[in-house]
Amino acid sequence: SLQPVILAGGSGTRLWPASRQLHPKQFLPLLGKESLLQQTLRRLEGLDHETPLVICNEEHRFLAAEQLRQCGLENAPILLEPEGRNTAPAIALAALHATHEGNDPLLLVLAADHAIANTTAFQTTVVNAVVLAQEEWLVTFGIVPTKPETGYGYIQQGEPLGSKGYAVRRFVEKPDVATATSYLEQGDYLWNSGMFLVRASAYLRELEQHEPSVLQACREALPESGAGADDIYPFIRLNGEAFTHSPDISVDYAVMERTGKAAVVPMDAGWSDVGSWSALWEIGEQDASGNVIRGDALADDVQDSLIDSGRQLVTCIGVKDLIVVATPDAVLVASRHHVQEVRRLVDELKNRG
Ligand code: GDD
Ligand code: MG
Repeated sequence: SLQPVILAGGSGTRLWPASRQLHPKQFLPLLGKESLLQQTLRRLEGLDHETPLVICNEEHRFLAAEQLRQCGLENAPILLEPEGRNTAPAIALAALHATHEGNDPLLLVLAADHAIANTTAFQTTVVNAVVLAQEEWLVTFGIVPTKPETGYGYIQQGEPLGSKGYAVRRFVEKPDVATATSYLEQGDYLWNSGMFLVRASAYLRELEQHEPSVLQACREALPESGAGADDIYPFIRLNGEAFTHSPDISVDYAVMERTGKAAVVPMDAGWSDVGSWSALWEIGEQDASGNVIRGDALADDVQDSLIDSGRQLVTCIGVKDLIVVATPDAVLVASRHHVQEVRRLVDELKNRG
């Protein structure tokens, strides 16, 4: 059966001021009552799988533990990184942990911060990918692209592999906008969804070949036996000094762009990377004027805007294409077309100290 691995160590900068260092977006209830992490776990219900393994920053261990407990997963292990080194090492830790006792499961690697509208289609697609993963393919899930988004990986579809998937001819992580546009025109590219199905040993083998220093650091960082003895929570702690020797690199650059063993299974499940406020506006419940309103807000002659009022009253008059997000100590007002720059703004704030 499948071993879910939930990557929950990102910072979600572009969703500031809701997403904060101490409370990043995967732990926030951005699309319903439960957090994105919890929705990710719920999405597995009904699928034949082992207890999920969550990997996140040490700083967020109690948030993660509490949210898992609310999903009835109080005994699920949580692997804690002293500092994030991106997804290539995070998945390596999961693969090493999973193979500790001579097992070699298929890892279903999921981002903790995606929205997927159609759970059944998601699960069916995962099941469709199992045979390829058993044959040692590193399976990606491909999404039909709709715009030249530069924040995604692009997968060029190659020869069919059986009836469900294709070999990957080319994988390009985060191309520039001109390149992305040309891929869209070409028509044989899919977006990388950022979810993977891989046999643990197959991933480790490819990592060894393409980015051995990541593997070495992770081997040295992982403790011999499972959870720390004096924790009441099932935390797995690393040798922090060893782990920081790992390069900071994503699985996309470290493995997927370089391997000859990548496959892609198309997924049509209403997937969205909840990356920015405009993405939240797109997938949110829009009223007749195209507004997504969360909390207590009064909008008069307002169109195509997202207003998230937090705990205070927010009022808007005569505006269009606006993002307004109010939290107790910070307010964001941005054009819906400039929300990618929130990242830069947060960097500036950090520099101000
Ligand atoms: N544990 C851990 N440690 N998790 C991490 C770390 C880390 O250091 N860094 C990121 N993550 C988690 C994030 O929380 C997220 O759930 C997932 O790993 C992916 O990381 P992102 O930082 O969000 O990646 P991205 O969005 O830039 O790009 C990836 O996803 C795209 C689709 O959303 C790539 O796989 C792209 O190719 C893909 O198109
Ligand atoms: Mg992402």
